[in-house]
Amino acid sequence: MYLYVFSGKASMLCTTLITDLDLMQLSHLLTPQAQQMESSLVRELLQYSQQPDILSLAGGLPDETLMPPLPDLAPVTSFAQYGPSEGEPALRQQISHIISERGLSVESSQVLVTNGSQQGLDLISRLVLNPGDVVLTEQPTYLAALQVFQLQGAVVKTVESDETGMNPEALKAAIEQYNPKAVYLIPNFQNPAGHCYSVARREAIAEIIDAHNILLVEDDPYRDLYYDDVVITPIASLLNAAPWVYMGSFSKVLWPGLRVGYVSASPSVMPFLVKIKQASDLHTNRLGQSLVSTFIAEGKLPAHLEVIRSSYKGKRDVMAAALERELGDCMTIHAPKGGMFFWLALPEDVSSKQILHDALEQKVLVLPGTPFFPTREAYTDGFLRLSFARLSHADIEKSITVLASVIRSHIG
Ligand SMILES: Cc1ncc(COP(=O)(O)O)c(C=O)c1O
Repeated sequence: MYLYVFSGKASMLCTTLITDLDLMQLSHLLTPQAQQMESSLVRELLQYSQQPDILSLAGGLPDETLMPPLPDLAPVTSFAQYGPSEGEPALRQQISHIISERGLSVESSQVLVTNGSQQGLDLISRLVLNPGDVVLTEQPTYLAALQVFQLQGAVVKTVESDETGMNPEALKAAIEQYNPKAVYLIPNFQNPAGHCYSVARREAIAEIIDAHNILLVEDDPYRDLYYDDVVITPIASLLNAAPWVYMGSFSKVLWPGLRVGYVSASPSVMPFLVKIKQASDLHTNRLGQSLVSTFIAEGKLPAHLEVIRSSYKGKRDVMAAALERELGDCMTIHAPKGGMFFWLALPEDVSSKQILHDALEQKVLVLPGTPFFPTREAYTDGFLRLSFARLSHADIEKSITVLASVIRSHIG
C-alpha cells in the first residue's frame, strides 16, 4: 500500500488505506495476491486532477476539449442485445486494417475487442501466468500492468532500458537467468519514461524473442501520438516464430470513457484469449464499440488524429521550453518524441514525494515516479512523470514555474 500521508496534512493527501484490521478480518478469504496488491497512485490522485483550482500534470488523461462529438447512432436498439465475445464484426475489420497499416498484417479473426487495452493485459496474464512465473519488463514501466501481473502472482523482473528502449544484451541475459514466460514492452512513447525504441533495438529484440520462443506482449496505446520523425514498426511484425500479442486502444485518441481497446494475437493464441474473454465479461459494451466503429466508418479518424497531434505537439514544445528555461541548469530535460509524458530525473537527494506534497500546497499536482518501478532494489524516489496533454499553454507555463520553485527549494 502506498502511504502518501504527510505529518499533519493527512486530510490534504490521503490515499485509500487498508488497515491491519481489515486484513485480519478478511485474510481467510483473500488470495495472497489480493492481500499484497498495491493501490494505483495514479487512480488515487485522480480526485485531485478533477478539482477545478488544481493544475494537474499527474494523470494520463487526454484533453477532453479535443474529443470529437459522439456520432449519432441510428438503430440504437440493435446494440441493446448481447453481442459476440470477439467484438462487433465491423469494428474488428476496421481494427485489422489499422493494425495492418502499421506493418503488422492481421486478419479480423485475429482481433479481439476489449474493455480498453487494460483488459487485454488482464486476459493475457490470466492466459499464461501462474503464481511464480516470471515476466520481464522495462524499468520503469506502466504501473497498472504491474498490478495485473502481481494479481496473477507473477514475478516481475526488470531489464535495463534507456531512451532507445530495452537493452538487447540485458534482455538476453535476463531470459537466460530467469526463464520468463513473457516480455512486456511499450515500444512507442512509453508510459512513464516517454522512450521510443530505435529500429535497431526493435530488430535485435525480435531476434532474441524468436530465438527463445517466449511470448511478446506489445502494448501500443500511444503510437498515433507522434510529433517528430520516428519509425515505429511493431516488434510483433518482426517476429518469425515466437508467439505474440499486440494491444492498442482508442482511449488516448478518442473517448477513454467508452473503454474500447483491442488485442491482436498470433493465430494459435487467439482462440484461448477468446475463451478467457467469454469467462471474464462475455463481451465488450456494444454501444461503445458502435460509436467508435461509426466514427471510423465516417472517415473522420485520420483528420482527427492530425488535430490531436498538432495540439499535443504544441503543448509538448511549450513544456519542453518551460522546463529548460526554469530547470535546465540543474536537470537534464528529454522531450519525448510522442505520447503525453515528460520523465524527469530530479536533482540528487530531492524526494518526489516531498515535491508532490509541496507542489500540491501551491495547487499543482505532479506524479512521483516511484510506483512505476517494479522491483524494490531499484525503488527510487528521484523521478516525476509530468503530463502535458490536458493543460493549456498558459497553465503549462504556470505549473512549471511553480514546480521549478518547489524543486529549487529542495536542492542542497
Ligand atoms: C501503457 C498503457 N497501456 C495500457 C493502458 C490502458 O489504456 P486503456 O485501457 O484505456 O485502453 C494505458 C493507459 O494509460 C497505458 O498507459
